Amino acid sequence: MILLGIDTSCDDTGVGLVKDGTVLGHRVASQTALHAEYGGVVPEFASREHTRVLDPLVEAVLGEAGLRPSDLDGVAATYGPGLVGPLLVGLTYAKGLALGLGVPFFGVHHLEAHLAAARLADPGLRPPYLALLASGGHTHLFDVPAEGRYVLLGATRDDAAGEAFDKVARMLGLGYPGGPWIAELAEQGDDRAVPFPIPLKGQKGYDFSFSGLKTAAARFLEKGYAKADLAASFERVVVESLVETVVRAARDRGRRAVVVAGGVAANARLRRRFAETGLRLLFPPPDLATDNGAMVALAAWDRIRRGQSPSPWGLEATPYAPLSHGPDVE
Ligand code: KG4
Ligand code: ZN
Repeated sequence: MILLGIDTSCDDTGVGLVKDGTVLGHRVASQTALHAEYGGVVPEFASREHTRVLDPLVEAVLGEAGLRPSDLDGVAATYGPGLVGPLLVGLTYAKGLALGLGVPFFGVHHLEAHLAAARLADPGLRPPYLALLASGGHTHLFDVPAEGRYVLLGATRDDAAGEAFDKVARMLGLGYPGGPWIAELAEQGDDRAVPFPIPLKGQKGYDFSFSGLKTAAARFLEKGYAKADLAASFERVVVESLVETVVRAARDRGRRAVVVAGGVAANARLRRRFAETGLRLLFPPPDLATDNGAMVALAAWDRIRRGQSPSPWGLEATPYAPLSHGPDVE
């Protein structure tokens, strides 16, 4: 079964093809340069750019796989969360294509798509497991007691982990998105040189908080700490905070496996540090950690595998879509 997946939740246009759970190919058209001079994503520009590039991108991805639209057995797109204009572009395109081809349409939750990419590491993984989602917009820790059920254990109280990377990178005069830039600069720095506080130290719950680190970074920069040391120390503390919280949750809930997804899952230090915990870790392939279309098709494939129905044609773009909860949500 061949599925096309589309993600236009923010500023990247992602298109991917998946056959029976295997990624046949994918492409991401980045809008980073377009938004760079405004210092952030301009939603209306993002929508227009998605509209401009989506159709040629779909053609390119199909062409590279040697396929035609008529080979598709289903079309999936992110319905939320994200920016409403960009979401509408991908969602409407996907519905139109599916309707035209006479195949089912799947509206996919963006976070579920990130998790589906991480599960590629072991397609046989079955619940229970923990799922950490750390992206530019989210830092959520879920317990997944059964297929498709997500019990929220904790979330960020302020900035998302990726957002903190982006903001501190900007402060240091680095590029956007900030994660890869900080990671690169951090390699030349001393990760103990700058005394960042550990966020929410000693908490019993599983929340996160990263805005204090951003404020601290500004203060340390003023004091004249070296930028490489700042990057390394900041990265270490963010990673420690994520890993410590997940390890504690895994112990408390008796879970052995952890799926780590979202753009921050591309971070090499995070992967190394998690590898030391003795937990069973599942990370997405690095090129599928950040937003892409293949993960959307993978999530649709998961649904088909579970015997779930396609989405209704009336499914709307939902900027603040909560992750679908099962009956045993706490
Ligand atoms: O999942 P994603 O592509 O988009 C959202 O849905 O938000 O995540 C993007 C975020 C950005 O904030 C970016 O700085 C961060 O992921 N990121 C990283 C790395 N690569 C991307 N953060 C830390 N280290 C990285 N290597
Ligand atoms: Zn994302």
